Amino acid sequence: MESKPSSTSKVTMAQMVQPNVANPYGNMHGGEVMKLMDSAAGVVAQRHSLSNVVTASVDRLFFREPIFVGDLIFCHAELIYTGRSSMEVFVTVEVENLVRGEIKCALEGHFLMIALDRNGRATPVPPLLIETEAQQIKFEKTKKRLEAAKKSGSK
Ligand SMILES: CC(C)(COP(=O)(O)OP(=O)(O)OC[C@H]1O[C@@H](n2cnc3c(N)ncnc32)[C@H](O)[C@@H]1OP(=O)(O)O)[C@@H](O)C(=O)NCCC(=O)NCCS
Repeated sequence: MESKPSSTSKVTMAQMVQPNVANPYGNMHGGEVMKLMDSAAGVVAQRHSLSNVVTASVDRLFFREPIFVGDLIFCHAELIYTGRSSMEVFVTVEVENLVRGEIKCALEGHFLMIALDRNGRATPVPPLLIETEAQQIKFEKTKKRLEAAKKSGSK
């Protein structure tokens, strides 16, 4: 299978935060942000594998800044690792306060997606084409983390 660079699958999804995804104090629910991140990771994994995908695990999710009703959020998702059928997507969320004109990094996380064939079984994906040293470092780090998680029994 021919390898593909992350530039062919990366995506940015934007959303204006509405009251229906927030608590009574106006904070966006963490689960609602995670849903958007999961959707963006799914788009990346589908684009890369050209198949159905499911989320196998979510890792290292850090909420750094609150997100409020009226903010504009940008969800950036990029493939950083491929195994046989697994694809790790790194997702960052930026929040823009449209009144103050400020943009901050609100959170980030890693989503492990698995490609499925028509029978719902894990199926091989094209290898990720590494183009830079930074990408190579991220790939190796992710590989080690996933292997360690497998050994510890969490995967
Ligand atoms: C993810 C799933 C397809 C894996 O099925 P499986 O029978 O374990 O498949 P395999 O043993 O062939 O493993 C397939 C890949 O998944 C990885 N994997 C399996 N379970 C995993 C887990 N819990 N976490 C992370 N990776 C996992 C394996 O390492 C393997 O990676 P590789 O092909 O790159 O080496 C299956 O567990 C599943 O369908 N889970 C539910 C997914 C889902 O519904 N997600 C939405 C949740 S709401």
